[in-house]
Amino acid sequence: MRVLIVENEAEVARAAAEQVADVIRRGRGAGRAAVLGVATGSSPLGIYHELAAQVRGDRLDTAGVSAFALDEYVGLDAGHPESYHSVIRRTVTEPLRLDPARVHVPNGTAADLEAECRAYERAIRGAGGIDLQLLGIGSNGHVGFNEPVSSFASRTRLKTLAPQTRADNARFFESPEQVPVHCVTQGLGTILEADRLLLVAHGTAKADAVARMIEGPLTSMCPASVLQLHPEATVIVDREAAAELQ
Ligand code: F6R
Repeated sequence: MRVLIVENEAEVARAAAEQVADVIRRGRGAGRAAVLGVATGSSPLGIYHELAAQVRGDRLDTAGVSAFALDEYVGLDAGHPESYHSVIRRTVTEPLRLDPARVHVPNGTAADLEAECRAYERAIRGAGGIDLQLLGIGSNGHVGFNEPVSSFASRTRLKTLAPQTRADNARFFESPEQVPVHCVTQGLGTILEADRLLLVAHGTAKADAVARMIEGPLTSMCPASVLQLHPEATVIVDREAAAELQ
């Protein structure tokens, strides 16, 4: 695992956006465009802003690029402003000028959620896999919505959100009770299959989880520790999020 410690949130965004832009520019060879794995939440927003500025300035061409979201709440209509369908459209698809037909988010209102999870796995495989998966980290060490004690072999599936995650995400809703209880998330096994992983974190609230991910034991109690198994994992954190590293 490569760990890059930079000064602040803005530098995290700049350094990470360079890596994502590089993957987009190189594509996957033979004229085929890159396939990105994208995260929601606050952590990657600065990256998306940086990339959007490059797209607007004609310094980055995203034609043909595909994207797969990590997760989605169960029970929120795609049109709900906090559904990850909406969040990805607002923060990724539109600003980066991606073709909406190439941007995939699990359907959290599917009548048969297990079939939806299997179809999502097939869609990722059908796209030839993910070149670069962007990740944030939960204050409890989750990645995607793989909460503590998620199996390292897990695939896209239905999960129950941890109370800590619901509390952390209550800021996006009018009241804590409105935060959905269940979600669909790519599994840790799914995430590990991406060619490269890029996890970003900033702020003191992430310091404990970041230290457990990087320096703690490999344990499903800290799902992000699974990054220790990936040969091409990069973590970019600011000084605050790095504060508990030895
Ligand atoms: C988002 C996701 C989550 C977040 C994590 C951190 O799609 O899968 O793992 O990355 O909860 O959230 P923020 O960045 O809001 O602190």
